Amino acid sequence: VAISRPCSRRSVVTMASLSQDELKKQAAWKAVEYVSSNMVVGLGTGSTAAFAVDRIGQLMKEGKLTNIIGVPTSIRTYEQAKALGIPLATLDDQPHIDVAIDGADEVDPNLDVVKGRGGALLREKMVEMASDKFVCIVDDSKMVSGLGGSKLAMPIEIVQFCHKYTLSRLAKLSEVAGCEAKLRMEGDKPYVTDNHNFIVDLYFQEPIKDGRKASDAILALEGVVDHGLFLDMVDVCIIAGKTGVEVKE
Ligand code: 5RP
Repeated sequence: VAISRPCSRRSVVTMASLSQDELKKQAAWKAVEYVSSNMVVGLGTGSTAAFAVDRIGQLMKEGKLTNIIGVPTSIRTYEQAKALGIPLATLDDQPHIDVAIDGADEVDPNLDVVKGRGGALLREKMVEMASDKFVCIVDDSKMVSGLGGSKLAMPIEIVQFCHKYTLSRLAKLSEVAGCEAKLRMEGDKPYVTDNHNFIVDLYFQEPIKDGRKASDAILALEGVVDHGLFLDMVDVCIIAGKTGVEVKE
């Protein structure tokens, strides 16, 4: 599909009837237009990115994309891409990535984003930082006026060692004042990332005032591995909504 802005009443009606999953697929398929044969492609994680991985696999099967190497951002994505027959590598083998396609949890007007509710933030950030072009794909429910504004979590990956101590230090940071810090759980056990770390979710009462300051303060804490603020990283954002698919660069 090459939907950009709907140009007829009919297409508006069609887009308006799309479910959230269909919107995610529209954004994902549009993003795959940035991929051409002979590229190394960063493969994101999450329900939106999964549509892009499927689409790449499909186009490869049809012979419309050839000689693609995928660099997955999680074990989940590795398994999906492997099942689709996409040749895979790591950043160790392919330190230069042409295009990375991935979803996000929040996108602000500057195209700064929060990622990692799926727990893959560290590998996602490493792969997307290594990419010439990071194409972020979302449905329009992810758009916020300020990061932290959706009242959903901003994740931080921390080492397991003395995690309660790190969590309490995170909660006391003035740069994230007023937010609630919670260890992410899976049943009665802490959630463990692909990198064998834990996740602390920060719940903001109001949007983060200064993302860069918050980023620096969080990263300065020993025990923190990385956080879900992806600042100045997105090159292209594709937003699918009921009125069409918008491409922001
Ligand atoms: C995983 C992520 C995802 O990209 C993000 O959570 C969006 O997921 P979804 O497309 O399922 O809404 O950052 O760590």
